[in-house]
Amino acid sequence: MNFESKIKTIEWIDNISRMIDQTILPYEFKTVDIKTAEEMYKAIKDMIVRGAPAIGIAGAHGVSLAAIELAKNIKDKNDFIKALEEKALYLKSSRPTAVNLQWAVDKQMQLAKSINTSNVNEIVCALKENGKKLENEDIEINKKIGDYGAQVVPKGATILTHCNAGALATVGYGTALGVIRSAYAKDPTIKVFADETRPRQQGARLTTWELTQDGIPTTLITDGMCSYFMSKGMIDMVVTGADRIAANGDTANKIGTYTVAIAAKYHNIPFYIAAPLSTIDISIKSGHEIPIEERSKEEVTHINGNWICAKDVNIINPGFDVTPHSLITGIITEKGILKPDFTHSIKSILV
Ligand code: MRU
Repeated sequence: MNFESKIKTIEWIDNISRMIDQTILPYEFKTVDIKTAEEMYKAIKDMIVRGAPAIGIAGAHGVSLAAIELAKNIKDKNDFIKALEEKALYLKSSRPTAVNLQWAVDKQMQLAKSINTSNVNEIVCALKENGKKLENEDIEINKKIGDYGAQVVPKGATILTHCNAGALATVGYGTALGVIRSAYAKDPTIKVFADETRPRQQGARLTTWELTQDGIPTTLITDGMCSYFMSKGMIDMVVTGADRIAANGDTANKIGTYTVAIAAKYHNIPFYIAAPLSTIDISIKSGHEIPIEERSKEEVTHINGNWICAKDVNIINPGFDVTPHSLITGIITEKGILKPDFTHSIKSILV
């Protein structure tokens, strides 16, 4: 049985948001039930749920949870919307880089404001339904991304990926790993190299866990090894996910992606981004405007709770970097593969 058909990474069930706890994988598999907007804020911030599309759905569920709570005490529609706006802003502030969070929370708020009713309970019902709808659509979108992406995977290719853009980063199936899943279904001779992805090790902990469960041959390498294997002719293609894509195609993704893209360009290896259209932020012209999350020093100084460096060394820990559009071969979306000039192809697909 495929991993992606067993369980959703995040799912709305009976007024709670149930999610896989990604902080303890691959050692333990457990789900966590999130019952309030405050719990959701913490779950996103602490990366119990992570990955741009998954935190988008978490944000949508967070708005539904906030609405359920507020409707217990606020019956006036205007007061209710005002209080919900505050909760929406709070949820959006949990992580700054992935635009899917803002996108999904804004979708919920647009819906809440547009419903023609004075009964706040009707708004709550609509938000719950819409959160569930966005959740289900995410899987469909990823399967389309997978199908388009599989068309550009060469026969028998070895594909390098960075971080985790799999079922765990989405509701199911994955974006970059969705491309790999769809390609593997057609050609079981393809193989994957997964970067470890320091400091949170999403590649080692999550990508290898997901792919090996699906029986997809996967080799784990550390982040510094990609150029070595490229120079040996052992990588045919790179595909990664994205957290935010600017109007010119510049793409923010997990720290280290930029290095992989430079190495791929040098070795003449195609470098693809796989992401839903909700990851494109048309409001920003270039990657310079993408806010980069700075995460805690402990992510760098510790591994599994153990110090790994001198105690008084300086630490900087940006969670993401921006790959300039000039290094990107194509952006695989649910509506097709965007090619350079990205300013033009992005604009035409979004209208
Ligand atoms: O910090 P994370 O784990 O939430 O970051 C996620 C990523 O950057 C992934 O690489 C991914 O490509 C984006 S989500 C499909």
